[in-house]
Amino acid sequence: MATLIGLLPGDGIGPEICREAQRVLNAVSAQSGRQFEVREGLIGGAAIDATGEAFPADTRALANEADAILLGAVGGPKWSNPEAAVRPEQGLLDLRAAMGVYANLRPVRTHAALYSASPLKAERLKDVDILVVRELTGGIYFGDKQRDADSATDVCRYTRAEIERIVRMAGDFARSRRGKVTSVDKANVLDTSRLWRSITDEIFASDYADVELETLLVDAAAMHLLSRAADFDVIVTENMFGDILTDEASMLSGSLGMLPSASLNADRGGLYEPIHGSAPDIAGQGIANPCGTILSLALLLRFSLGEDELAETIEQAVLNAVAAGHRTGDIAEPGQPAISTSAMGDAILAALPA
Ligand code: IPM
Ligand code: MG
Repeated sequence: MATLIGLLPGDGIGPEICREAQRVLNAVSAQSGRQFEVREGLIGGAAIDATGEAFPADTRALANEADAILLGAVGGPKWSNPEAAVRPEQGLLDLRAAMGVYANLRPVRTHAALYSASPLKAERLKDVDILVVRELTGGIYFGDKQRDADSATDVCRYTRAEIERIVRMAGDFARSRRGKVTSVDKANVLDTSRLWRSITDEIFASDYADVELETLLVDAAAMHLLSRAADFDVIVTENMFGDILTDEASMLSGSLGMLPSASLNADRGGLYEPIHGSAPDIAGQGIANPCGTILSLALLLRFSLGEDELAETIEQAVLNAVAAGHRTGDIAEPGQPAISTSAMGDAILAALPA
């Protein structure tokens, strides 16, 4: 039976960038002889328009059945009325919860070819290779919420089990990298952070004595990411801090459009998506950067399907295409004409080994 990949293009630039990822998948499938069945589903605003729900039952069934899910992006002004009963983003949060994907891996690397696309000085970008391990199914995103006319509450809750499994995963990744974990919290203010810190200290002292543990408050971490990014190896943090810090860290790599992510559950099943959003301002124009999605496909092949070689082939093709000067607008050199989403896809296809 062919491996089943669920494809959820979603909203905004989602369908445009997913189309390029699908072309890359078809190409590596034809070259390698591996069979992949791709089945599309609805999520987010597109799902609300078609069914009234952001995460319809068919999509839930697809997420259950599929070996892995590749997602574009959700959200947009059409559905952004804060008073709306159902919002696109809720579809993504429900999908993450349904799949139990608690570990969101967001690798951030810099490449000399893209130094000029970053707002930071080149000397600060050298040798940056960070893996952010973001907790994804707990914290303030999923706590109880209440709202009346004049007040609102979002509860931030973490349990020992949720903290343990994510910091252990960070420790395990550090062992196969440079042996360092930076745990980011706000333990000077938040009780969830104090629990996080004490559990992290405990686990590293008992089971990861070979891994260096550094602890930073989130505000300081935001600064250190810009001033000494190359010092970081693995960063582990809770859901919302990870959301914010990875948008910031994307500027090291040149553009939010470059960064992939993998969200894993206990069975290595996973959800793969670029870290950027639906970019409604450029949707439908065919100018979005498909690299983050194509690199997410590579992570899907590596982590959920065990196809390390195909993953590396794709990652190398993206790097080669970018290094050869093929650039969408977000990463174009000053004065260089930007190419379209599909031309970027063509360049990556052309860079795949024959
Ligand atoms: C992300 C996004 C989502 C998040 C939104 C769309 C709910 O910003 O994946 O980083 O906050 O997790
Ligand atoms: Mg985000």
